[in-house]
Formats: sequence, structure tokens, C-alpha cells
Amino acid sequence: MSCCHHYYSLADGCDSAFSVDMSSITVGPGCLSEAGERLKTRGVARVAVFTDKRIKELDFFQRAMDSIARAGLDAVLYDGVQIEPTDASFREAARFAADARPDGYLSIGGGSVMDTCKAANLYATHPADFLAYVNAPVGEGRPVPGPLKAHIACPTTCGTGSECTGIAVFDLLEMKAKTGIASRHLRPSEALIDIWCTHTLPHNVLAASAFDVLSHAAESYTAIPYSARLAPLTASARPMSQGANPWSDMGCERALKIIGSYFERALADPADLEAREQMMWAATLAGIAFGNAGVHLPHGMSYAVAGLVGDYHVPDYPDDHAMVPHGMSVIVNAPAVFRFTASACPERHLEVARWLGADFGEVSVAEAGEVLAERLEQLMQKACFPGGLAAIGYAESDLDALTDGALPQQRLLCNAPLAVDRTILKELFRTALSYW
Ligand SMILES: [Fe+2]
Repeated sequence: MSCCHHYYSLADGCDSAFSVDMSSITVGPGCLSEAGERLKTRGVARVAVFTDKRIKELDFFQRAMDSIARAGLDAVLYDGVQIEPTDASFREAARFAADARPDGYLSIGGGSVMDTCKAANLYATHPADFLAYVNAPVGEGRPVPGPLKAHIACPTTCGTGSECTGIAVFDLLEMKAKTGIASRHLRPSEALIDIWCTHTLPHNVLAASAFDVLSHAAESYTAIPYSARLAPLTASARPMSQGANPWSDMGCERALKIIGSYFERALADPADLEAREQMMWAATLAGIAFGNAGVHLPHGMSYAVAGLVGDYHVPDYPDDHAMVPHGMSVIVNAPAVFRFTASACPERHLEVARWLGADFGEVSVAEAGEVLAERLEQLMQKACFPGGLAAIGYAESDLDALTDGALPQQRLLCNAPLAVDRTILKELFRTALSYW
């Protein structure tokens, strides 16, 4: 059994190059106070500020607003972002943006806030039917026709990496499934990564965000090599989910090592600010990596897990609607997936397990999937996370619906190191029902 990633060797008909795109980023405590000046430098005179009602009340949000006032900018506030957004909430945000006519955007929040801001900027700048830009086959998958207005994204959780990616994810209500919009034009112009924003994160938000980061890095590192994907017909047709490559490998390795050192510390002690700050840096590194490689099965399956949720609520999240937080809906699939994908590149799976702090000696490559899956299950238990889909409310009778919900996520499924069909996908969901 050999590892498909030892060399990014060229193959007939496959891609021979990879591209690196990323936002300009500024990292450091207090840098949110640079927002106003940075917007002004980009020629913004009227900024639409996107956030949610909880964050609007926090000190760091006011610091950003003060900086906008100091820069002499006109600001309009949108605080109606829905956590785990839907097509309805994206449309509402887009209507706001179209009416407000800003010439730039500032988003301050988690992935839901940044993704909603991306969508509002898109539809206000390039109006179209909502499904026009949504990934096929759910939507038309029409290319975004050109650049959007300037957008500075300011993450406030230790996760998502949305500030560095051209992806916006939402629930399509009529299909009860998550899907998204993906385009390089959606990537924010800049990111301000202010580690002071993470100091007030409650336990479950921190844990779900951290598992999202972990999975971004682990999936990107084990994705199909870019050199094994069919060559694009044109240069601009190379997908953002282009597969593992030497650039993304660097970010994944560093992010996973940081998570291995600091995740348990951050979980155990909310006052351990060094651990929280390191986790935020890991989120940035993983975001840059997966924005240029793409994730695969745990995320592809998560869309169905989150979209088909019954009556499930998690403390520390808004209680007005049932939801599975994104990071939880991802990590609950991960042990089943990595047991399956390990045979494609076992050395990479063992590296991920070692970087995450798994304690193992000499093992055979045949044990790689088990070693990584067990380490993930340990971390899930330490975070008091559900031990499988059954703990979230799913049963054997839901396996067909979950599989049907994940199958349309071809952008992600095709980025896996092994091909999957309906039968395999259903089996993965079955394995994910209960780990302990
Ligand atoms: Fe994610």
C-alpha cells in the first residue's frame, strides 16, 4: 500500500499546476481598531457593517465602530444575521445591502456573519436569481461575473476560516439541505484577526469551532492530490477545491500541531488566553489551507446532518430554532470517514494523528485509520460532544435521507482521496451513528 501523496507526480490528462489565492490578513490583539482606516484606504466612504445581536453588545464591536467614526465613514448596521443562515436569511441580507447601497462591507462575527456578508455583497453587486450562483446541481452554478465591493472580515470565533475563503454556506430550506456558493470573488479583500475577540467564547462555541478547524486541516491534508485531478479546460476553470498541494500542506501541518498542543488546554480552562489565541491562529492557517485545497467527506456529509436536524438544541447557541452547530455536524462524521479513507494515504492519516497528539508507537499502515479515528473520538469525549449521529437524534431509518442529502455535494465528495458512491456513503453514515 503506497501513499498517493509522496510525490505530486504528474499524470497524463491531470493538472500540472496549483494556484494560491488568499486574503490580505492582519493578525494581532486589538487590530480590530484598524478597521476604519483600512476601509478608507480602500476607497470606502459608506460601509455596511454585518454582525449578530449578541456580538453587537460586546466591547470589541464598539472598538470597530469607533474606528469607523474616527475615519469619518458613513456606516449602516445590519445585525439580523441568523446563526447557521438559510436562503431566506441570505435573501433578507441581500435586500438590505441593495437598499443601503454601501461601497464597502465590514463583517464582525463567526462564519455565519461572514458568509451572510459575502452573499449580501454578491447579490447587491451582481443581482441575479438566488439560485443562479448556488453550487450545481442544487443551483445553476453560474460563475460570479466579476469582483465584488471591498469586504473586510473580522472573525470572532476560533474557527471556520471563512475570512480566508471564497465560500458561503447556507441551508436551502425547501430541500432541508445545506449547500453553498463558491467563487474566488467571494473571498474577503482583507481579514482582521483580533485575538481579543475570542476571550468571551462560551464552551460549546469554542469546541465546535475548534473541531471545524481541525477537520478543515485534516480533510485538506488527506484530500486527493491536485495532480490526480483532471486538468481544467481553461486556467480560470481550476476549482478552488483543487486538492492537496504543497502550499496547503504547510498550513495543515502547522494548524494540526497547534491544535494538538492547545485544544485540550482551551477546553479545560476558559481563562487560558494563550490557548484560545493559538487556536485562532490555527483557524487562520487552516482556513488559508482549505481555501486552496478544499475539504471532503466530513464536510460533504455535514450538510445533510445539519440540514435534516430534528429537535436538537445545544447550550451556548441561540435556542429559537433547532440546529447542529457546523463544527459538530462535521466532526461527528470524521471518525467514520478517516477509517475509510486511510487506505488511500495511510502515512498522511498517521501524521495527522501524531500532530493531534495521539500517543502511539510502531503501528502498521493498515492501522492508520483506526489510530486517527480513536484520537478524534478521545477529543470529542473530552469536549463532551455527541458520540455519533444517534446522540443528535438520527436512527437507522434516517440513513437514506442523510445519504440523499449528502450526494449532491459533488464538489466535496470528488475531493476525497477515494471515490464514493451511494452505497459507500450510506455505510459511512451507518458507522457514524454511534462510536461509543
Ligand atoms: Fe467548516
